[in-house]
Amino acid sequence: MKHIREFSKQSHSYDANTIVQKKVAKYLLSKIKSKPKKILDLGCGTGDINKKITWQYENFIGIDCAKGMCEKHPVSSNILVLNENFESESFQKKIQKFAPFDIVISSSALQWSDDIEELIKFTASLSKNIAFSIFTCNTFKDIYNVSGLKTFLPDAKELVTIIKKYFDINYEIKTYKVVFDDNMSIFRYIKKSGVSGGKKKLTVTQTKNLIRNYPHDYLEFEVLYVVSPSV
Ligand SMILES: C[S@@+](CC[C@H](N)C(=O)[O-])C[C@H]1O[C@@H](n2cnc3c(N)ncnc32)[C@H](O)[C@@H]1O
Repeated sequence: MKHIREFSKQSHSYDANTIVQKKVAKYLLSKIKSKPKKILDLGCGTGDINKKITWQYENFIGIDCAKGMCEKHPVSSNILVLNENFESESFQKKIQKFAPFDIVISSSALQWSDDIEELIKFTASLSKNIAFSIFTCNTFKDIYNVSGLKTFLPDAKELVTIIKKYFDINYEIKTYKVVFDDNMSIFRYIKKSGVSGGKKKLTVTQTKNLIRNYPHDYLEFEVLYVVSPSV
């Protein structure tokens, strides 16, 4: 297991997520050497994974629960985009007809899963190979420390333990730092991105404390990469 730190300078608070997600998708794809022909992408978004694939594939299926995302995903005769929740029964029934896949990819999406173990177990019925990047609990850790909120993101080591029950894997944890101009920009970013997971919002007092006491000019993201050895 490697633990790599990467550092980005950027000035616009609104695209911090996008910057990190794009780097994550690129790095995840760089780990895939086997040119898989049948690909499933869980949480495909607007198609960053699909657009970055450099080899010839036969079929690519992308799944996303957000209709607006699916509508922006590339389509063609060998690309199918399904507007589905990847944890739903209807998706799981539908997708089995297309299995097996040479690989199941998922970039920056599985941290939202309600029951990640069930999803991993189901994924094992679709393919022997996975390549996942998952945002983990040290993402924004100082924000959580200062504000007193609890992260909703999964713990990297716990995820590895779960995934190892179903797949042979190599893994790596990477942290990304995105530097902001000042604490106010960090605050604006937090407001936009719903750092508190959309479940528990910061109160006015918590927000004020955070702006006053946040000790850095950067935000830190932690990402777990899990990849089957033969991909
Ligand atoms: C941060 S985006 C990443 C998109 C893309 N994989 C990329 O790397 O650019 C996460 C995506 O996962 C989707 N997503 C989250 N939970 C999902 C679920 N349960 N079922 C399907 N899609 C989901 C979201 O709608 C969103 O488009």
